[in-house]
Parts: sequence; structure tokens; C-alpha cells
Amino acid sequence: MSGADGADPRPTPPRMSTVDLRGLTVSAQGLGCMGMSEWYGQADWDESVATIRRGVELGVTFLDTANVYGDGHNEVLVGRAVHGRRDQVQLATKFGIDRSGGDGSRALRGDRAYVKRACDASLLRLGVETIDLYYLHRPAQNAEIEETIGAMSELVAEGKVRHLGLSEVDEDLLRRAHAVHPIAAVQSEYSIWSREPEQLAPVMRELGVALVPYSPLGRGFLTGTVRRSELGPQDFRSSNPRFTGEAGRSNEAIAAAVGSVAVRLGVPAAQVALAWVHSQAARLGIPVVPIPGTKRVRWLEQNVGALDVELDQEALAELESLSDRVVGARYWPRGGGSTAFACTAELTAVGYVSSRSVNEAGTSPGKAASREEADVRPARTTAGRPGVSRRPRA
Ligand SMILES: NC(=O)c1ccc[n+]([C@@H]2O[C@H](COP(=O)([O-])OP(=O)(O)OC[C@H]3O[C@@H](n4cnc5c(N)ncnc54)[C@H](OP(=O)(O)O)[C@@H]3O)[C@@H](O)[C@H]2O)c1
Repeated sequence: MSGADGADPRPTPPRMSTVDLRGLTVSAQGLGCMGMSEWYGQADWDESVATIRRGVELGVTFLDTANVYGDGHNEVLVGRAVHGRRDQVQLATKFGIDRSGGDGSRALRGDRAYVKRACDASLLRLGVETIDLYYLHRPAQNAEIEETIGAMSELVAEGKVRHLGLSEVDEDLLRRAHAVHPIAAVQSEYSIWSREPEQLAPVMRELGVALVPYSPLGRGFLTGTVRRSELGPQDFRSSNPRFTGEAGRSNEAIAAAVGSVAVRLGVPAAQVALAWVHSQAARLGIPVVPIPGTKRVRWLEQNVGALDVELDQEALAELESLSDRVVGARYWPRGGGSTAFACTAELTAVGYVSSRSVNEAGTSPGKAASREEADVRPARTTAGRPGVSRRPRA
């Protein structure tokens, strides 16, 4: 469109390529909106809205939020930002982490009545009639996956939701869910330093499920811009096992290695981290659509540029083994404490636990900021099908 003086107000942005998620066409790179409401330091409403709108201008139309981010704040923000642009975007949101009892009493819910209520509330906050991709944020404590997906499929039939997704699941849950209703995408942490979803790739390929990597920048760490000593107490990373103490110091070598690849290629480290994630789609044989998070136009524009970065064999070889050098877990283990546990074990730790265990799980050593949405994860169960009546393993 031309301005009043005939000149273009902004250069026409290049059209971003798209990816098909089982019939849902999304931009090849999305935008994670979580940090616009909490977890990564101070956020500014206007800058956040501007970031989303600049993203849409640049073709970043796949927007990721959740009812738990800012306890509803994030969905309201995203909804306001896309007002008047609804048809240009694909809205993905999540439910299942019930924060209504306070952060010390979070629960993972998937009972039919809750699913229905959660969806209506998200639609209201977003100000839309349909959610394009609706994820179960974590496997529920109080319902079998069949009940939860059954309720989600009713939402599809009612026209409130278009496609279904899961976040951080293992093969058993993915297969059981998919048997009830086709699953379009699994959202899991995936980056140069978090490779666990690769274990699930064969079954995702078999079922036709895409991977939506969250925290593809390692929560900012891989960009080399995070100053650990400057993270405020409300910043989730100030108490995350990978960012703190000796582990944090040791992991600086990983950020430095990404940085040296970036210097050689003449691009920002963030683009190297994102280009690496994009490059894995061919190797894994599944669609891969990362959703880097930012609340700043500057970073958003830089991240869009990652789609033009091609990593050469030398760069891929240098980045390949960095995950082996990571010290510290992605989240604190259940019950808090500083003992890191294996990331591979954590990805598959998706059974059910008693609410008492979940309360413990939401607590890490004395820092409220560490109660990020995912560290109320359920624990590994004894062998066999997880069920609501099972007791957690000691
Ligand atoms: N399913 C789940 O359980 C789950 C869990 C976590 C996140 N998510 C979703 O995934 C999205 C992305 O993950 P994430 O936000 O946790 O981590 P991320 O994308 O790996 O990193 C976000 C951090 O990187 C910084 N950043 C972004 N672009 C940058 C650049 N070009 N240069 C330097 N720093 C940059 C951001 O800074 P600023 O904050 O200053 O912009 C922010 O602190 C979230 O927004 C959320 O929607 C889902």
C-alpha cells in the first residue's frame, strides 16, 4: 500500500514461507509470546503489541500463547494485538496447567468439564471464535488422555478449535491421543542444547505429526546476550539449573561455541541457533516450526533473518555435539533441590502423580520465579499405562 505522498511507508516485506501442519498452514517460523507477560524480566505492553504486529507484517503469523502465561494476561495481549488481523494469523494456545489455586497449588487438569471451560475462557480472552491449534500443555493428573482428547475433539466438532496438539509427551501418550483424534503438532523444548524430542521423531513421522520447538534459543542463552548476574529474582532463568552456579559458568562455553560459528558466518548467534533448528527438519523427516520468543521488534526482525541463513557442514559439525556438554537439567526435578537429572529421562517423565507431588514439583529452592509453567510436570510412573489412581514412584 502506498503512503499519502505516493512513497511506500515501509518496504514490502518478503513473504515468509509456510509449513503445513496436517491442513493448518502456518508461517515457517512462529512467535512465542510468553515473555510478553512473565518469566523473562520486565515486559512492556505497547512494545509487545508492536512486536506481534511487526511479526505479522513480516509474515510471522503463527502466534503461540497459553492460558497460564500471566494467568490470562498473555491471551488478552495477543488477542488485542491481532484485533483486525484475525484472518492473517494462526492462533495457538494451551490449557491444562490450573493456576487458580495459587502458584503453590498448581494442578494438571484434563477432565472434560475443565477442558470445555478452559477453551471458552481462552476464546473470550483472545476475542476470537476459533482457536487454530489447541494444545494440552501437560498430561493431566486427573484424567486419562482419552478423556482429555475426547473433550478436545468435541471442541473441534463445535467449531471452537480447528486442530489439536500436545506439549511434552512420550510415545505412549502420543499414540493414545492420536487414536482418539489426529494430532497436528507436538510442542517440546528443542534447540542446540535440548535434543530430547529427537527420540520421538520416528513416531511423529509415522503418525504425520509436526514438531513445534519451544525455547529454540535456549531461553536466550544461546544468543550470547544473557548476562546471568543481571537476571532479576522474578526472571525464571535466575534459578534455572542451567543458568545458575557452576552449571551456568560451564554452559558459557556452549554459548561461546555458537558465537564463534556466528562470527565465522557473519550473522548474529540467534540466527545460528534458529537456523540449526530449521535445518533439522530434513534430518528428522518431520515438519519443524520453531517459535522463538521475544517481546522486542529488534529481536523479532533479527530472528526472521534466520530463515535466510544456511549452515555449512563445518558449522553443523561444530554445533552437533554441543548438547553433550550441557550441565544442568531443563527444569528443577520434582520436589526442588539442586540435583540435576538426565534430560532424556525428563522428556519421558510424563505419567501422572498425586496432587501432593505436584505441589512439591512446583517448588524449587526458595525462588518464586522458578515456578515456570512446565516445572509442574508429572512424574514418571511405574511401568504400564499411567492412570489417575497410580501412586508416584518414590
Ligand atoms: N510448551 C511449553 O511448555 C513451553 C515452555 C516454554 C515456552 N513455550 C513457548 O515457546 C516460546 C519460545 O520459548 P522461550 O521464549 O521460552 O525461549 P527462547 O525463544 O529460546 O528465548 C527467548 C529469550 O530469548 C531472547 N531473544 C529472542 N530473540 C533474541 C535475539 N535475536 N537476540 C538475543 N536475544 C533474543 C528473548 O529476549 P526478550 O525477552 O528480551 O525479547 C527471551 O529472553 C515461548 O514464548 C512460549 O510461547 C512453551
